[in-house]
Amino acid sequence: MLVICKKKYTLIAISSLLIAASCSSTKKLTDKKSSLQQTYKNIFLVGAALNTTQIEEKDAAADALVKQHFSVITPENIMKCEIIHPDWNRYDFMLADKIVAYGKKNNIAVVGHTLIWHSQLSPFVQKIQSKDSLQTFLNNHITTIASRYDGKIKGWDVVNEALEEDGTLRKSIFLSKLGEDYIVEAFRIAQKAAPNTELYYNDYNIEQPKKRAGAIELIKKIQAAGVRIDGVGIQGHWRSYRVPMKEIEESIKEFATLGIKVMFTELDLGVLPNPWDSDAADVNLKAEYNAKMNPYATGLPDSVAAAQAKSYGDLFTLFVKHKDKISRVTFWGVNDGQSWLNGWPIIGRTNYPLLFDRNFKYKPAFTTVIAAAK
Ligand code: G3I
Repeated sequence: MLVICKKKYTLIAISSLLIAASCSSTKKLTDKKSSLQQTYKNIFLVGAALNTTQIEEKDAAADALVKQHFSVITPENIMKCEIIHPDWNRYDFMLADKIVAYGKKNNIAVVGHTLIWHSQLSPFVQKIQSKDSLQTFLNNHITTIASRYDGKIKGWDVVNEALEEDGTLRKSIFLSKLGEDYIVEAFRIAQKAAPNTELYYNDYNIEQPKKRAGAIELIKKIQAAGVRIDGVGIQGHWRSYRVPMKEIEESIKEFATLGIKVMFTELDLGVLPNPWDSDAADVNLKAEYNAKMNPYATGLPDSVAAAQAKSYGDLFTLFVKHKDKISRVTFWGVNDGQSWLNGWPIIGRTNYPLLFDRNFKYKPAFTTVIAAAK
């Protein structure tokens, strides 16, 4: 009898172990809690910027991760003027068409980035001398590109980074030749070309009071002209150890009172020191390399990863609190190794700004972002 009982209990124990093992493997495969887009399904869209390799589906690990975690994607570079419109009469839609097809195939929304930006302009634009020619460029560029993807993409960053830090208009080729109305004009042209696409103004540091005031003025001007603007993108290139939480919350509230959607469009929380102690994301800022400015070249210390996780958790808790005003949060890249912050503002550093590490493994910050949705 004793022998039979022992056998019986051994069998029960073994079968329980098997059930537990099979449950845990099923959990891994199907648990919606481990997907950002599923976890945030009824809160806001969660996205990532894709580089060319990812758009061309040549990075299998990134591809799997994008499909699992993101409900919206933005091309990091390939819809910028110098790539999509290299000459007056020549457009190159090859990669832009690919990301739109990728989105459609995988049921992932696409946001176009960006129609009018002073940076990454094709050389022919930089050489334009007359106001009339630049006006013709503005009209042709926006009309041709925005109409091609109308109804196929979710929205456009129509104008990107048109403000200085003090909230005045940036001294760009567009401002100097076309005058301050060029922004309203850009939205007017986009509205005509893309009636079925959301239209956004996108910039960095517009959570900061002076620049925010400039952005509010600019948005009100577009609205007063009777032109459509659907949302504002706060880029969100912050440092993990000094996220401006107070200013972010004020911005969410103030921008929402304009009746437009609030989005965080290029989020990354870098962990490295910044040579100027500034949060500007101006791609033209550069500094010399020195080892002191690259403290984690051999790996991210646990304490820094934990502090970053706390910052991401606090930030997403704030986003969730204001989910009625926020429509999207997009990370600027898929994994740490692919982030622009490894090369800016100092070339050759090792930064860790995203939720996934260089091997596409979840970092502690992933867990706090998931937890913030609860
Ligand atoms: O594709 C060329 C390649 O052919 C060439 O050999 C190589 C040599 O430098 O350059 C490659 O182009 C680089 C491109 O990224 C693609 O990797 C450019 O030099 C480099 O300047 C460019 O940087 C991008 C930057 O915008 C400027 O366009 C970053 O990847 C991109 O993350 C960054 O994104 C911007 C947003 O659009 C606007 N907000 C700020 C944000 C960060 O700066």
